This record gives sequence, C-alpha cells and structure tokens, in this order.
Amino acid sequence: MATRFWLVHLACVALLIILPFGSFRPISEEIVDDSNASSAEINAAAPPVLQPRGRKPEALAQISSEQFKLAADYLIEFGYLPDENFTDYLVPDMPFIPEDQLPEEFISGLEWFQRQNGLTVTGRVDDETSDAMKLPRCGKHEQRMSYNVGAKWKKVSLTYKIINTTALLPDKLVREELIKALKVWENVSPLKFVEVGINQTADIDMFFVSGQHNDGERNAFDGPGRVLGHAFMPPFSKTKKDLDGDLHLDNDEKWSINEKKGVNLLQAAAHELGHSLGLDHSTISEALMAPTYKGYKPLFQLHQDDIEAIQALYGKPSTKTDASSSSASSGGASKAVTPSVTSNSKVTEDKKDPKKQTIVNLCSEEPIDTFVSTMDGSIYLFKGEYFWDLSHGKLPMSPKKKYPQLISAKWKELPSSIDAAVRMQNPTAKQDGKIFFFKGDRYWKYDNDKIEPGYPKLIKEGFPGIPNSVDAAFTQPAIIAKGNKVIREERIFFIKGKKFFLYDPVAGNSSSPQMLQDDWFGVKLPITAALSLKNEMYLIGKKKFQKILLLTYSQNRVYGNIHQAKNLDQLIVCDTTK
Ligand SMILES: *[C@@H]1O[C@H](CO)[C@@H](O)[C@H](O)[C@H]1NC(C)=O
Ligand SMILES: *[C@@H]1O[C@H](CO)[C@@H](O)[C@H](O)[C@H]1NC(C)=O
Ligand SMILES: *[C@@H]1O[C@H](CO)[C@@H](O)[C@H](O)[C@H]1NC(C)=O
Ligand SMILES: *[C@@H]1O[C@H](CO)[C@@H](O)[C@H](O)[C@H]1NC(C)=O
Ligand SMILES: *[C@@H]1O[C@H](CO)[C@@H](O)[C@H](O)[C@H]1NC(C)=O
Ligand SMILES: [Zn+2]
Ligand SMILES: [Zn+2]
Repeated sequence: MATRFWLVHLACVALLIILPFGSFRPISEEIVDDSNASSAEINAAAPPVLQPRGRKPEALAQISSEQFKLAADYLIEFGYLPDENFTDYLVPDMPFIPEDQLPEEFISGLEWFQRQNGLTVTGRVDDETSDAMKLPRCGKHEQRMSYNVGAKWKKVSLTYKIINTTALLPDKLVREELIKALKVWENVSPLKFVEVGINQTADIDMFFVSGQHNDGERNAFDGPGRVLGHAFMPPFSKTKKDLDGDLHLDNDEKWSINEKKGVNLLQAAAHELGHSLGLDHSTISEALMAPTYKGYKPLFQLHQDDIEAIQALYGKPSTKTDASSSSASSGGASKAVTPSVTSNSKVTEDKKDPKKQTIVNLCSEEPIDTFVSTMDGSIYLFKGEYFWDLSHGKLPMSPKKKYPQLISAKWKELPSSIDAAVRMQNPTAKQDGKIFFFKGDRYWKYDNDKIEPGYPKLIKEGFPGIPNSVDAAFTQPAIIAKGNKVIREERIFFIKGKKFFLYDPVAGNSSSPQMLQDDWFGVKLPITAALSLKNEMYLIGKKKFQKILLLTYSQNRVYGNIHQAKNLDQLIVCDTTK
C-alpha cells in the first residue's frame, strides 16, 4: 500500500514539472463578491520551486494519516500544491505516517502556506497551522505583499479585440466601458492599446462567456454572483501563447453601467485588465487590485497602490509623443555596480584590534559585503574586515554579543571585503554544506571554518563563465523531474551589476548572463549581498532590501516574485556598539 502511494506520488511530480514553464503560470485570477470572499484565493504564483526543508523533522515525529489528508486537500484546493491530481493522493494504509517520510512537495506546500499566513515556518502540521487552515480564506491575503508582479509585456503598445459583448446591455455601451477600462491603465503608464480586426491576432482577447469555456474545469464560471471574471497574465516569453493576456467575463452576471445595482462592468473589467498586464492581487482592500469586488463606486479611480504596481512594471506615462519600446522598469537604469575590489587585490594580513571600533552602523556607511549561513544554523554578516554572528529567531536579526570580530579570527585565510559567499544546500551532492567565498578573481572553499587544501583558486577555473568581482551570490535548491525520476538540483545565482548568471555546480557550466530587470520584475539595483533565511531569499542593497516570495527557474531564465523594498533596519538591527 505504502509503496503504491509513493509511486503515484512520484508520477504526479514528474508530470508536474516537466511541462513547459508557461503552463504553470497563474492560470487565472478571479474577483469574488463579498458574500463568498473565502474562495478568493487563486493559484497565485509561478511554478513551485520545491525547496528541501531547512532542517529535518525531529526523529520519530509522526502525523496521523487523517491529518495529512486534510492538510493535503487544503493545500491542493488553494494552490499550494498546484496539481489537481494530487487530490488522488492515496493515503498510506497506516494510522500514522512518520514525518520524515512525508513527500517533499507536501512539506514545501505547507511551508509556503505558513509563510504566506505569517505562521512559524516549521514544515510540520502543528496546531498553529491546523488552526489557520480552519479560518475563513480571506485572512490569507493579508500576508501577501501589496502587490507582486509575475510577468509583463515586453512592449508598451498592445493590441486588443472585443470578441463579443453581453446580451443584457447594448453592444455599443459595453464596448465603451471596456475601452474606458483600458484607459484607466493607459492614463498612468506608458502603455497604449490598439484595437485590431476580429480576424486578426490580438495580445488581449476579451469576451463574455458562461460556465465552462475551454480553459480548464477550474476556470468554469459559476452563474450569477461569486466569480465575476478572470484574466491571464502576460506571456513570460516575447510572444503570446494561447490564453496569455486574455480577459473573460462571466456572461451570467447582471452587468451594469453607472448604476448601483448589478456588477459594475468598468470596475470589474479594469481589475481583470490589471491581471492581463501582469499585476497580481493587492492586500490593500481599497485598491482596484484587491481580490474582492466591493460594489459600485461612482467616482471610481485607481488607488496609489495600483498606480505603483503598474509603474513598477512599465514606468510612468511617457512625456514624449510616442515612446516606442522603452518600457522603463522600476529602479530605472541604475548604473552598473563598480566593485570595490580589483581582481588582483591581495589577501590582507591586517590584524587590527576590533575593540578600537566604536559604533558600527550595519545599515549605512559601507554596504554589507555578504551573508553566509553555516550548517549549524548560524548566520554571519560580513563587512570590511569584520563579521557578526546574527540572532535570527525573528526579524530584524540582531548581532550577538562580542561581535564584530575579525574575519581572520575565524576564517584565517580569508581577505577582508568579501564579494559574496554561498553555502551549498543539495543533500544529494558532494559539495553539500561546503562554503564558497568569492573575492576579486579568486574563491575559497571551506568546510565550516576549515579551508580545504589548494585554495584559493581562480574563479575562471572553478566557475567557468562566472565573472570576477561578483556583487552577490546565493543558492537555490530545487526538485526537478527528469523522465520518471525526481532528482534534486541546485543552482548558484551570481549577481553582478544588472546581470545574473545561473551556475550549475554539477554540470560545471553557467547560463549566459540575463538582465535582472527583465526577469525579476520590480528588483531594485544595485544588489550588494544576498541572504537565504529559512528558505526565504532576501536581496540586499545599500539601504534597502527586498524579499523574494518565490523563485523558480526554467532553462536559463529565472522568475522571481519580488516584494517592495524595505529599509534595512527591518532586516537587521542596524546599530551595534562595540
Ligand atoms: C460560500 O461559502 C459558504 C461557506 O462560507 C459555502 O457553504 C458555500 O458553498 C459557498 N458558496 C459557493 C457558491 O461556493
Ligand atoms: C491529471 O490526471 C488526468 C487523468 O489521469 C490526466 O489526463 C492529466 O494530464 C493530469 N494532469 C496533470 C497536470 O498531471
Ligand atoms: C472573419 O473571418 C470569417 C470566417 O473566416 C469571415 O466570414 C468574416 O467575413 C471575416 N471578417 C472580417 C471582418 O474580415
Ligand atoms: C463569446 O465568444 C466566446 C469565444 O468565442 C464564446 O465561447 C462565447 O460563447 C461567446 N459569448 C457570447 C455571449 O456569445
Ligand atoms: C551545461 O552542461 C549540461 C550537461 O553537459 C548541458 O545539458 C547544459 O545544456 C549546459 N548548460 C549550458 C547553459 O551550457
Ligand atoms: Zn483578480
Ligand atoms: Zn476563462
């Protein structure tokens, strides 16, 4: 029985992951009226990166199979385990399942749920988690960032066509409202919409339809009330595939224009268009992009959050008459980072007394060089010739007593002003747990604080394709399906200036560099360090940091859902006195 359970399970995973990337993007997002806000949750993110657990569960801990089934069903229903076929989970024929035998995907989904709901990320079905699963669903959205962005059009001039209208209202008026909805976004961005003939291909197809309509059972409309419509996010690639960008409205709603009764067409269409343009739901309930419809607003206008969201993707309205393809991303074209370290920099033999330091502000002055975590769960921050051990039970992390200390006191061979560091995290790989430090043209390999023989070595020899003097690096483990087999893989992400490189430590090669701002929408540059904390990723700049909600990679591309930048003091207690 148990064997069969796992076999079924593995087969599903293989199916899940080998499909082309595009199939796993958010299928649709729906507006739901207030009467049933509990179903507002949608399959919100890109394909899951199935992250191994941060730590192993306590030995012999187990979970009842009933509890497991309940939790699994819940995770599936709300998209944390994003395969409807997991509903066929065969629960092993035993009353209790040892926790260390639970499927990785289940734990990964559970952790995602915990993160999004502000629970302690334990990867276990603890009381707090079971209780949270019993709450009405609207609570979940509160943990989401005010907006997150998944994809955007790679152009600012978009075509659309209105395939049909709804019988309750005059054709002409419906068209006018839909065009007004386009204007709502045109007014605050450089986007321009152009209508094309009914037989031509458009970026955004709009139509009204009832019930099932060939975009999946899950997307079937449900008659009057509840789900009002949905729309598909823009393509990740340059060209539209299938339903990308399309907007569907439920033909069974009592659509209305400029009146209180019914469902206001302009508001609903403008919300759905937000999705067609790449916006996700907002946690701000007054925003247009909030998941629920809150009734007719005679003076409807975008919330500041909606405006910031669209401008983070496409920039502000262009002042020139016709800005062709220059779609400015947030952060603008920041200048490339000039690394403070030259490739020939020497190992400093400096043994300055750290006690001479007075007050160190970790968040200002010189940027943070790097963070590194070790197998024993410590997180260290590096700056200049010093490092700090950080308490990281909760944010902001705070430096422990007796820090800073000289880097050379713990890692004797290391120079000061490290560029970047990573700890490998693939339990199936030889390198698991090893720490690599990078500076200039060289790298150092450590087992905890013990250097391995023969180091430092040249980056170009050990990491072909990776440039010298990188700004930041981190690793991202994942579970990948290869044919029938599920294997663990890991990539090291190197960031330098506006570019990132994906290094495959097993193949020993690197992807050609990609522009960060093309794939990591909303990312702020420059990045000086990266931190991986309890399976969450943080990108750190000079004064601000950004959390990455979810990262996934497909071929050489990486997609990150990136939170808005926050001040560094929300991540680390800045002032430390010596
Ligand atoms: C609305 O939610 C209630 C519980 O809150 C549920 O019983 C009912 O089935 C839901 N309605 C629909 C149409 O899903
Ligand atoms: C789910 O199962 C059905 C029937 O076995 C299959 O046709 C479909 O491709 C599966 N879907 C996924 C996403 O694996
Ligand atoms: C669109 O194509 C259909 C069928 O191919 C044709 O009947 C119709 O006349 C075309 N409409 C226009 C506006 O070209
Ligand atoms: C509108 O067009 C879609 C797509 O062709 C179709 O499925 C739907 O039935 C049409 N709706 C109406 C109200 O005619
Ligand atoms: C890296 O090497 C592997 C195995 O040789 C190969 O499949 C892959 O395409 C290579 N990747 C790049 C980016 O060159
Ligand atoms: Zn929505
Ligand atoms: Zn649809």
